[in-house]
Amino acid sequence: MAGIYIETFGCQMNEADSQYIADRATAAGYAIVAEPREASVVVLNTCTVRDNAERRAYGRMQHFRALKRADPSLKLVVCGCLAEQDRDTMQLVAPHVDAVFGTSELVRLGDALASWRPQFADDESSEERALTAAFGGTADCIVDRFSHLRAFVTVQRGCSYYCTFCIVPHVRGRFDHRPSAEILDEVRLALSSGAREIMLVGQTVNAYKDPASGADFAGLLETVAGLEGLERLTFVTSHPKDCTDRLAHAMGRLPNLNPRFHLPVQSGANSVLRRMNRKYTVEAYLERIAVFREQCPGWALTTDLIVGFPGETDDDFEQTLRLCERVKFAQAFMFVYSPRRGTPAALWEQVPSEVATQRLRRLIATVDGGVRAYHQAKVGTTVRALVQGPSRKDPSKIAARTVDNVTVVAYAGELDEDSFVAAPWIDVAVDDARVWGCSGRLVGMSKGFAGEATAVHIKETVDLLGVI
Ligand code: SAM
Ligand code: F3S
Repeated sequence: MAGIYIETFGCQMNEADSQYIADRATAAGYAIVAEPREASVVVLNTCTVRDNAERRAYGRMQHFRALKRADPSLKLVVCGCLAEQDRDTMQLVAPHVDAVFGTSELVRLGDALASWRPQFADDESSEERALTAAFGGTADCIVDRFSHLRAFVTVQRGCSYYCTFCIVPHVRGRFDHRPSAEILDEVRLALSSGAREIMLVGQTVNAYKDPASGADFAGLLETVAGLEGLERLTFVTSHPKDCTDRLAHAMGRLPNLNPRFHLPVQSGANSVLRRMNRKYTVEAYLERIAVFREQCPGWALTTDLIVGFPGETDDDFEQTLRLCERVKFAQAFMFVYSPRRGTPAALWEQVPSEVATQRLRRLIATVDGGVRAYHQAKVGTTVRALVQGPSRKDPSKIAARTVDNVTVVAYAGELDEDSFVAAPWIDVAVDDARVWGCSGRLVGMSKGFAGEATAVHIKETVDLLGVI
């Protein structure tokens, strides 16, 4: 059977697009494989939001050249934001790439997969394919025994806000909201395929408007949350400008909504926010999160932050630190500003990279204090979490994610993957907290989020060799 390997970089929009590609590929008769050497088609779904994402994608393209040399019938396909940005030059730089599909050409990509499929029918050569180089995955391969438990459903494409640092509107276009009936159908389909958690994704989901009825995101959330069979619902990303009281009230009312709100602030200085074209002030952000905290007490608030944006002074940066000390985010994605071709800020005078890197270090130290404290509060409690799969660092442990988006790991003992697929909600008694998450003991497993757990007794093995 022809195999397809899909490697995904970047945000949840790309994860959602990869899920679409995987669905089209399976419908066309491909098997999703976890190793590129087993594939007849390799798809690289790329990101260009920062320079290092772009460099990694080109690095992977070069890496796959050896596979292509070993089997010229292999098709290497590049899609996603970098493909859109460099569509005219990509095959000059990487001539072994067979096809490049921009962000609006996913359907065409799906059609191409279907048309290539007969070429690979009963193709034995993939088994015989001699490999000249070892391959290490640098990004998520989208399919394993557990990936169906979480489904990404796109509610909108593109973004019309044009933050002066951001490439997204340039490579994904302006807002294009999907009809809510289509969104609901896709959620139902994911639920019938075993999804336990639905993540509604878009660059600015809370700006959503149904194209026909004008219904807003709060309305969409309420409708999706009411669907039969839905266990947990979550969404990313929101923009502070579109945080209405109505949305906060809806969030507080829906019991199956995950208690985590991701609200990127980017900077704690008004002068920087203005030049970023973020359309809010620090005061407005604080006022919005006060309403959110009143309606959704105990939820995790997470954010994105950029340091070294053009013109950011020491004082501006100190204001960002003060904001983080005050808000105590449960998690933050922190970046050094990366100039993106075609965006306004790329043309402005840049902050020296040593200064930006130094600021990032200080910011991480400040934010991590709050993150660790958030995780520490779980020590001594038992948390329920949805399985993600064997821990990448230590496969004898199972990794899972709590509903407030904290990673937990626990020793899995004799339990195999089938047991975790059958009862994917695990109860972990938390013993230790780190910045990356928590570790503890697996004490129970449940088939449903709200179900009674079956008690689990795992004997920790002692590494005698380690003792000797
Ligand atoms: N739609 C989201 C929002 O409203 O904030 C952001 C989407 S962007 C793909 C994800 C994050 O990447 C942003 O929140 C920002 O912190 C970061 N980012 C985007 N462009 C960047 C750049 N040029 N340099 C550094 N970080 C950037
Ligand atoms: Fe980018 Fe700003 Fe939209 S960060 S995705 S232009 S809200």
